[in-house]
Amino acid sequence: MDERHHDQIAKWERRWIAASGLMSLVFVILIAYNLATEGGHIAQVAARGTPETLLSREIFAEPGLRITGPGQAQVSIVAQAFNFVPERIRIPVDTEVTFYLTSRDVIHGWQVVNTNLNVEVIPGEISVLRYTFTRPGTYLTVCNQYCGIGHQNMLGEIEVVSASDFARVDDDDAMVADVVDGAQLYAANCASCHGPAGAGIAGAFPPLAGHAAELAEQSRPYLIDSLLYGLQGQIVVRGTTYNGVMPAWGQLSDDEIAAVLDHIVELGGPSVEPFEADEVAAERGKGWSPSDVLEFRRQVIGQ
Ligand code: CUA
Repeated sequence: MDERHHDQIAKWERRWIAASGLMSLVFVILIAYNLATEGGHIAQVAARGTPETLLSREIFAEPGLRITGPGQAQVSIVAQAFNFVPERIRIPVDTEVTFYLTSRDVIHGWQVVNTNLNVEVIPGEISVLRYTFTRPGTYLTVCNQYCGIGHQNMLGEIEVVSASDFARVDDDDAMVADVVDGAQLYAANCASCHGPAGAGIAGAFPPLAGHAAELAEQSRPYLIDSLLYGLQGQIVVRGTTYNGVMPAWGQLSDDEIAAVLDHIVELGGPSVEPFEADEVAAERGKGWSPSDVLEFRRQVIGQ
């Protein structure tokens, strides 16, 4: 073999080896730089169990922010199709926050835009991670795991405010805390599937405008039960067949369920007597499943 030709190949081989070695080095430096400046923030699994047992834990009884000490806070978040509970969280700046996340139904994602917080939220697991927001501002949170037809609408917000703003806004909140706004509850919990005006999505989510008021004329308990316990299976609304899952909203209070039902029946159709909290309370404790509600629907509404 020609000796010169062989040298030529060996030279190029050495250059390629050097170039790939250099690339690996650059990647390692970038990862190390990121870890040093931004920190790790890898979620740990704090507990495993059925979604029901995890959700019955105290930390998820009232999801949201809890100040646990000076510069220390806990935030619990429940992900469900298709929103985060709570949807908006206000956090004082420079506070070390321990986030607890779990899912009520399927795998969701929780990513805080413009930070390196990014967690897979898994039903049957509590994920925990710590983070300190050092700059005030509004941070968008998004679900980044495809979880169903409303996935793209699964959004939330973290508002990071100064300590003095935090104290002030908290007082404002206390003043309006007992006003239950059905329209706001609808926008936060129902609009991502049923649409902002209750028109639904043909074939995927049934319309509520007009239809809900008709249902209320046939069976008020059925409407309440479908919110308290959810609904699963095939139904026909105005000639269109739907076969989906409506999650249960039993975590809302009796007042809140009554208020959101009032909003829904006002979207159109016959006029309906306002719903009362007592009426909702009377339906609680049945322990129904979404399929039980479907069975009840067949009895009182038909298909
Ligand atoms: Cu939840 Cu995508």
